[in-house]
Amino acid sequence: MKIRVPATSANLGPGFDSCGIALSEYLFIEIGEDTDTWVIEHDLSDEIPTDESNLLLQTALALAPNLSPKKLKMTSEIPLARGLGSSSSVIVAGIELANRLGNLNLSIKDKVQIATELEGHPDNVAPAICGDFVVASFLEGDVRYVKHHFPDCEVLAYVPSHELLTTESRSVLPETIDYREAVEASGIANVMIAAILNGNLPLAGVMMEKDKWHENHRLHLVPHLKEIREICHEEGGYAAFLSGAGPTVLVLTPEDKTAALITRLTQLDEKAQINLLHVDTEGVQVF
Ligand code: HSE
Repeated sequence: MKIRVPATSANLGPGFDSCGIALSEYLFIEIGEDTDTWVIEHDLSDEIPTDESNLLLQTALALAPNLSPKKLKMTSEIPLARGLGSSSSVIVAGIELANRLGNLNLSIKDKVQIATELEGHPDNVAPAICGDFVVASFLEGDVRYVKHHFPDCEVLAYVPSHELLTTESRSVLPETIDYREAVEASGIANVMIAAILNGNLPLAGVMMEKDKWHENHRLHLVPHLKEIREICHEEGGYAAFLSGAGPTVLVLTPEDKTAALITRLTQLDEKAQINLLHVDTEGVQVF
């Protein structure tokens, strides 16, 4: 059995802690033979544990403590600590592992609820589970969410060579926000979502770049965002915004503008990766 979980991009600008899309880069967990103790084979990083202290097994065993140990193989195309939902993908895989091996019969809604409780916000885990575009709220312990088709476009992920931990990127956000500014910020997010539902990416893109919740506070941590946004406008892309807490910047573009955008973005920093992706419509899968 093999579990596949997509990368995700949270926020889409003004949908802070609420909106996200699933993307076509994946975490894979292959379930192997029975063993005496759990072992995870991977070649991701020396800092990622190979035993029960790995987030994958912490998640799975919290849900189903009596699972019998197995050998697992973990491979991932999702860059770590870059704002593409790598840790959310592991939490979602852990829930699915417990669900399958422990016969828990979890519904999609159960999985979104459990994953959000573990992650703290739904904007990465909900699209990782459901696929496509998801808008979610997490209020008084309850998750409510809506999945919808995301309009056709290509997605360029500009992935800088350096990591940025979500904790660091959240530590620069203010405790409170002025009431009038919150009303504006909410209006921007509402139009962005409505435009996506209408399939109007040019309008959605304009609103994605008008976020007032988080991007301005994070700009000093992600100086490349401004330059990428300028390139996006010059080359006819729909929008450039911070992916989750950064440092990755996502550029949404019509297909015929992709090649020119890649050429321009490649010139910015030779150490950055530019990945051409699309929206994954399925979410977590088991093969
Ligand atoms: N909404 C979160 C943030 C996503 O921007 O901090 C990161 O997990």
